[in-house]
Amino acid sequence: MRRFAGLHLLHLESVDSTNSYVLSRPDLLLKAGLVVYADHQTSGRGRMGRRWFLGSRGNLAASLVIQPDLPKDYLSCMTLLVGLGVYEALSTLGLEGLSIKWPNDILIADKKVCGILCETSGAAGLQAIVAGIGLNIRGDRDDFPPEVRGRLTTLESHGVRPSRKEMLELLLDHVDRVLCLASEGHVDMLLDKWEGSSSSIGRRVRFSQDGNTHVATIAGLGPHGDLRVRLAGSASLVTVVSGEVEYL
Ligand code: BTN
Repeated sequence: MRRFAGLHLLHLESVDSTNSYVLSRPDLLLKAGLVVYADHQTSGRGRMGRRWFLGSRGNLAASLVIQPDLPKDYLSCMTLLVGLGVYEALSTLGLEGLSIKWPNDILIADKKVCGILCETSGAAGLQAIVAGIGLNIRGDRDDFPPEVRGRLTTLESHGVRPSRKEMLELLLDHVDRVLCLASEGHVDMLLDKWEGSSSSIGRRVRFSQDGNTHVATIAGLGPHGDLRVRLAGSASLVTVVSGEVEYL
């Protein structure tokens, strides 16, 4: 019996963005555990204001309404915890080279197969988090626009062809399991697991912060899911709380 993710499912044929749809509907934001998923998205949104292309071959676009049962200090970890749940679901498919890239991209052999956009709503004092998951299941990277093709992959390219509904159920089971463990006080253990599942630790990266671009090596996660990096040529650790890193 799920407690946090996937208690009710709402299917839409077409929508601008499943995240935008949920965020614009306070009645849906009140439904903890709701999942909205769609066959088509006309304006799918990615992190950092980018577009998200769903492709036309049965990929997954779903938004989870989560009302986490976590102390405030840990809320910033939610995005990592959802990513860990998705990673754990995909790892049951026997994929080679699966990893998490901070904060919550899921990669196969360093190409992105799944992106997650976590947003919060200020509406009516709600504490709901909308976790939008875009998973490339079918086809290959040629089904995506040229500008993103080189960075993406699909499950089918790696020999796995689950249906969208099977994948959704699998993701919900694993995300729910991670959120249950988090609510039972196991966040530190889950963050250790995240580190063990990530290709980011020890990696040389480029990132931007405060208008400057830096090269650094990732040292690990801080206690609340922020990233600790060692800048090139420096011994001290710097914290990165948001944004993204580029693998070098
Ligand atoms: C990223 O940039 O990596 C995040 C991509 C998130 C895409 C999903 S698809 C379902 C949900 N609706 C959206 O508009 N975006 C998210």
